[in-house]
Amino acid sequence: MSRPHPAGPKHGDVVATRNPHPRPEHVDDLDASIWSTTTRRGPDGEIRIGGVSVLQLATDFATPLFVIDEDDLRSRAQAYREAFSVRSGVDVDVYYAGKAFLASAIVRIVRDQGLGLDVCSGGELWCALAAGMPPSRILFHGNNKSEDELVAALDARVGRIVVDSVAEIRLLSQLAADRGLVAPVLVRVTVGVEAHTHEFIATAHEDQKFGFSIASGSAMAAVAAVLADPNLELVGVHSHIGSQIFVASGFEVAAHRAVRFLDRIRSEHGVVVTELNLGGGLGIKYTDDDAPPAVAEIAAELLEIVVAECQRYRLPVPRLAFEPGRAIVGPSTTTIYRVGTIKRRTLEGGQQRVYVSVDGGMSDNIRTALYDADYTVALANRGSDARAMLTRIVGKHCESGDIVVRDAWLPDDLAPGDLIAVAATGAYHRSMASNYNLVTRPAVVSVAGGAAQVVLRRESLADLFATDVGLSEADVRTFGS
Ligand code: LLP
Repeated sequence: MSRPHPAGPKHGDVVATRNPHPRPEHVDDLDASIWSTTTRRGPDGEIRIGGVSVLQLATDFATPLFVIDEDDLRSRAQAYREAFSVRSGVDVDVYYAGKAFLASAIVRIVRDQGLGLDVCSGGELWCALAAGMPPSRILFHGNNKSEDELVAALDARVGRIVVDSVAEIRLLSQLAADRGLVAPVLVRVTVGVEAHTHEFIATAHEDQKFGFSIASGSAMAAVAAVLADPNLELVGVHSHIGSQIFVASGFEVAAHRAVRFLDRIRSEHGVVVTELNLGGGLGIKYTDDDAPPAVAEIAAELLEIVVAECQRYRLPVPRLAFEPGRAIVGPSTTTIYRVGTIKRRTLEGGQQRVYVSVDGGMSDNIRTALYDADYTVALANRGSDARAMLTRIVGKHCESGDIVVRDAWLPDDLAPGDLIAVAATGAYHRSMASNYNLVTRPAVVSVAGGAAQVVLRRESLADLFATDVGLSEADVRTFGS
């Protein structure tokens, strides 16, 4: 059986065969390269983030709880902007990819750090505008944007609209003409590279839904259509090759193909394209198995690659853009769960499996079920020098695939009521959360300097019932508070 990961092909049945990480010597240790920067144990062994104890957070905001380490997030956003602006003569815009996690507080943080914002739905666009992101710094993605979404983007005067289909080019042209506007567009191309972690596949065949294929000629036809249209301005070309990527080689092939495409645009249409957006995809460290390069290193490498490709084709270096999502917000956030039941199962061959059930699950972290994702976990409310035991952390949903962490080392004095923390859950967790089994989605708080602030409050049952037209407002008041 195989199932696709958005960042590349992935085989589904690796689940049963992956070996757990080796038993840690000290189960209480927090690896600083995985946990957010201010996460540490206090004198009593309890974990504190941003100077706030997790026990306090659990008491004040209940669990499960997403805790954003604000200093970590701010400094990471700043580091990405700075790392890409070091090379003189190369102008680079960094757009935070809002799909990773978006809320008004995040919009303001990335705005204040000088980043732009990549949005890919009317909801994300609305959040960006309502929270005060300057429209000129918003870039609008989507392979099936609705007319309403395009109208909203045009009316707001967003800086870039990334066109993804022939139908969209026609519709956008019409909508821009109706408003007496010229829409600034990037043409999204597929360069035939799928990248994931340490591997990438370069191929001419592109079996996926996004953009226009360079290899098939549809990308050049899209460029020609945009250039011929007085209601559209060709601002640039866009390529995104995948997510959770650790090596520059995939970007190298992508940049090579994208720059060659810019060269062909110049020779076929006499137009020098002035912007190249290479998308997002920079990877982060979830566990010891992951070894992402430092941001300064990968940024310098990416800039070098594009400059070299441009020199090769004697093209002026275009304005560059990148769209990191996970790399900015992922490591900043920790999920806190409360332990409920603990069950010991004897498997075939006599092996013991310890199932630790927590008060969340696949509704707040679907990545384990969807991508076989792996995480680092720690006992959070106290220290322990007990021996490490191998556990499987599972949720409270009615599904056996409801696994939060497949193999987690926790002290063997773990007890119901303890709090556990899961690291690096800022990207694609709350943003992909669901109400499966009619659970309410967790709150998100940000912590800094010893204080916590609510970013998203916990959903109430009233929020859930609000869309059920078969329930009266009185029912909602009675049961939903
Ligand atoms: N730009 C475009 C056009 C994208 O499609 C994406 C992600 C990004 C930027 C940001 O990529 P990042 O830097 O975050 O890797 N739900 C999956 C990841 C899906 C990525 C979708 N596109 C996961 O949880 O691993």
